[in-house]
Amino acid sequence: MTDSVRDQYEAYPYPSRDPAEEATRLVVGSPSNLMELNHYLYAGRRDFSRPFRALVAGGGTGDAAIMLAQQLSDAAQAGTGSPGSNPGAKRGGEVVYLDLSQSSRSVAEARAGARGLTNIRFVTGSLLEVGKLDLGVFDYIDCCGVLHHLKEPAAGLSALAGLLKDDGGMGLMVYGTLGRDGVYPLQEMLRRLAGDQPLAEQVTLARRLLGNLPASNLFARNPVLRDHGGSDAELVDLLLHSQDRAYLVEEVAALVEGCGLKLVTFIEPLRYDPATYVKDPVLLKALSGLSPLERAAFAEKLAGNLKTHVFYVTKNLIEDTVASPAGRDAVPCLRVMQGPQLAKAVQRDLSLKGEFDGLALQFPLPRLAPAILPWIDGQTPLSKIQETLQDLDPRHDWARFKVQFDQLYAVLNGLNHLFIRYPV
Ligand SMILES: C[S@@+](CC[C@H](N)C(=O)[O-])C[C@H]1O[C@@H](n2cnc3c(N)ncnc32)[C@H](O)[C@@H]1O
Repeated sequence: MTDSVRDQYEAYPYPSRDPAEEATRLVVGSPSNLMELNHYLYAGRRDFSRPFRALVAGGGTGDAAIMLAQQLSDAAQAGTGSPGSNPGAKRGGEVVYLDLSQSSRSVAEARAGARGLTNIRFVTGSLLEVGKLDLGVFDYIDCCGVLHHLKEPAAGLSALAGLLKDDGGMGLMVYGTLGRDGVYPLQEMLRRLAGDQPLAEQVTLARRLLGNLPASNLFARNPVLRDHGGSDAELVDLLLHSQDRAYLVEEVAALVEGCGLKLVTFIEPLRYDPATYVKDPVLLKALSGLSPLERAAFAEKLAGNLKTHVFYVTKNLIEDTVASPAGRDAVPCLRVMQGPQLAKAVQRDLSLKGEFDGLALQFPLPRLAPAILPWIDGQTPLSKIQETLQDLDPRHDWARFKVQFDQLYAVLNGLNHLFIRYPV
């Protein structure tokens, strides 16, 4: 089976990427954004100028490896944490890229070359055989969109877990069952139509069938899945895969637990909270006794549009694995947005608009949000932000400020926009 998967990704490296575009943009996402993994796996206290080894297992055309290597390199150059006296750290840790597909690796290597990144080691091989590859142990492992293509996903995850340091963690993504409504009947039809033909022929027939789907077809009615609109690689990955399966929340938890790992969080957390979708107090009260996992499973069924599950796991989940915004020295960091612009955007109706795969949502923000946001710059601790606001209005003592900040944090962190780091 691995052979047909390898052949597919040799012919159609995924996702399709042009190395020339590295000059104009960095592809970022979850999992594996450095700020995000620091928050969820290292309590926001990881000093990235200390040696840090990451494995990107099933690295494809390089998205995660390039993002991680670039962010580690930037952190090392900026001396994030304590000033890097370690000369190796100046390069920004080490990222090991591993994939079955040589042609995917060539794209990833060209992208690294275009950026001048020297902190990625490229390896061709199977993650099922990592034990034999002598790669060493890792602080962090990314495995995004790969486990669901293995015959035995648990064997893959266990093999990776064997390379994880005791205080390390992983960022994973597997397909979500409900958001992929319509994919598997379509895959079956395509196997029936053209399963014995070369992939290029299958692509042609798939495009014909897509053009002839009745409006009642489950795939045609699913607004969440539009990946096939891009290149052939995207279409093959979605509809012509020789091996893929999808997971419900409970199945993700069972997979993780079965490999001796602990589930830290799903991303974005608010997608996995029933209160995001339902405001009826009677219903919410009825759900109040559920465990976080039961709530996540309920939210998945309620939303019905989760086509992937992105989640972090560790070997040892302890009380402070995840960063807390409790400390006065906590430094709030926005992932992409700029505090002053965000302040302006939310000023008028004190709320943040969000969109989860076609589902429009609006999240109320606290009164002080427009006053707090301009000071969030990834450097300034909460104590300083509070003092600045108190200088402007003496009523903003720590206790009052903290109530308002925590409400703002619940929305922005829940939407994966805001993380916490602590000075190291
Ligand atoms: C859907 S792509 C995902 C690529 C990348 N992780 C991303 O998210 O952009 C799946 C990748 O996993 C690789 N792959 C599949 N099975 C593998 C295995 N057993 N060992 C290593 N790589 C594998 C494929 O070659 C392909 O590049």
